[in-house]
Amino acid sequence: MPAERYYITSPIYYVNDVPHIGHAYTTLACDVMARWKRLSGAEVFFLTGTDEHGQKVAKSASDAGMDAQGFTDKVSKNFRDLAQAMNYSHDQFIRTTEPRHTKASQAIWERLAANGHIYLGSYSGWYAVRDEAYYDESELKDGPGGKKIAPSGAEAEWVEEPSYFFDLSKWGDRLLKFYDDNPDFILPATRRNEVVSFVKGGLHDLSISRTSFTWGVPVPGAPGHVMYVWLDALTNYLTAIGYPDENADTFKRFWPADLHMVGKDIVRFHAVYWPAFLMGADLPPPRRVFAHGWWTNEGQKISKSLGNVIEPNEIVARYGLDQLRYFLLREVPFGNDGDFSHRAVMNRINGELANDLGNLAQRVLSMVNRNCGGKLPEPGDLTPEDRALLDSAHRLFDDVGKSMDVQAFHEALETVWVLVRAANGYVDRQAPWNLRKDNPVRMGTVLYVLAEAIRHLGVVLQPFMPQAMGRMLDQLAVPAEARNFASLGRALVSGTTLPAPQGVFPRFVEAEAGAAAR
Ligand code: MSP
Repeated sequence: MPAERYYITSPIYYVNDVPHIGHAYTTLACDVMARWKRLSGAEVFFLTGTDEHGQKVAKSASDAGMDAQGFTDKVSKNFRDLAQAMNYSHDQFIRTTEPRHTKASQAIWERLAANGHIYLGSYSGWYAVRDEAYYDESELKDGPGGKKIAPSGAEAEWVEEPSYFFDLSKWGDRLLKFYDDNPDFILPATRRNEVVSFVKGGLHDLSISRTSFTWGVPVPGAPGHVMYVWLDALTNYLTAIGYPDENADTFKRFWPADLHMVGKDIVRFHAVYWPAFLMGADLPPPRRVFAHGWWTNEGQKISKSLGNVIEPNEIVARYGLDQLRYFLLREVPFGNDGDFSHRAVMNRINGELANDLGNLAQRVLSMVNRNCGGKLPEPGDLTPEDRALLDSAHRLFDDVGKSMDVQAFHEALETVWVLVRAANGYVDRQAPWNLRKDNPVRMGTVLYVLAEAIRHLGVVLQPFMPQAMGRMLDQLAVPAEARNFASLGRALVSGTTLPAPQGVFPRFVEAEAGAAAR
């Protein structure tokens, strides 16, 4: 059977800003999904990158006193560095200023034009540069000084300019049918309902070119027009796999994308405009758009002007990378908003990582080290309690998989912790430290059963905490090629010499962390 293929994308990030925790979050969710699929044996293509055109980036460049290209080169690098610091496993990092992307964007434009979906007109209406989005007057609120404010809080300005339009108003029924036929196209359900009612409310034709600035992909055959940045940006998902060459091997293998991971603020672009553009260009829409929630910092909206931007590098240095990865996906149901607070991170690290999982591994491995001559013991006859724990371990991958299929990362981790807690309860009840003298065979069985449970935990948790789980599996001497999900059935070999155990998750102690209590 050919391997399953899985194409997953993060949004491409505007290069107007330094990366913050919100950006790290979207790509982290993709990374965990990509790693999960790879360990499941799928052929994965995981794409991330930067969105470098448009008025917002052009303005940031001129505010920085730099030319647009020089500015985007510099800021794009920050996102590449972030990807490294967060240990993302992306297969490609795309920049929309690459020549291949200009080619792909112009090709989709030409296809839409050839199919009769584009016409020349003039736009007069509201535009919010911060969101790079057009708004109806009815969507805006009055702000101070007569300003018009978009639902996102961004200021909208009145724009009047010649513009090409995409005939979005004709796509309502086809989109609604598409959502109906594909009930999991937009997750979670609350976002789906929002999109459906937006489309039911009636769609207007969409302005897809701008003439009041030049930092964008030139519209083919229309001097003075650059493409609306969202049409350019969304097309990155096609560029990366070889479009416009629809016969390219990567294109044939990976389109349609399986999952566009996005934040809730950009659902409309991905779930309304994008499928309409694609269908208009005779291409199938992606299989799923998942919209996650937003983080606040200690209860406050994260914004540069409030000075409370959480820089991923600082947080990684303070708490540890895998601790941060765990926290972000454990703390809130994926799809909901969440609050990033020092107390919450510390509780998760000390309660669940250091106490529950870290102690479990440390207790078991040090007993093997001290009491079994550092060799994995031989299991004797199994009691019903041994079997119950082993059965739960054997079921773990399937149980967690059900949550992963719908991007319920918090639920996946909760399922893993049910086993962690069961294993801790089993250690306490079996008390292997008391068996050493009187019943060493039973002690060996208990430690072996526990080692097997820890192996399952380590393998299944790798996508979330690749480094820490790598170390944990090293300590169980699980060979590198036996760490994928297909190898879960390969039981540990008794008699294997284990390396000296070392704690995987240290407790977070305020005093040692210095400034951490602030
Ligand atoms: N360039 C567009 C995306 C184009 S995709 C074809 C864009 N970029 S962005 O840099 O502004 O945002 C990228 C992602 O970061 C979005 O998914 C957004 O939801 C996410 N976040 C930005 N701030 C966030 C939080 N405070 N919390 C969680 N995610 C947030 O939009």
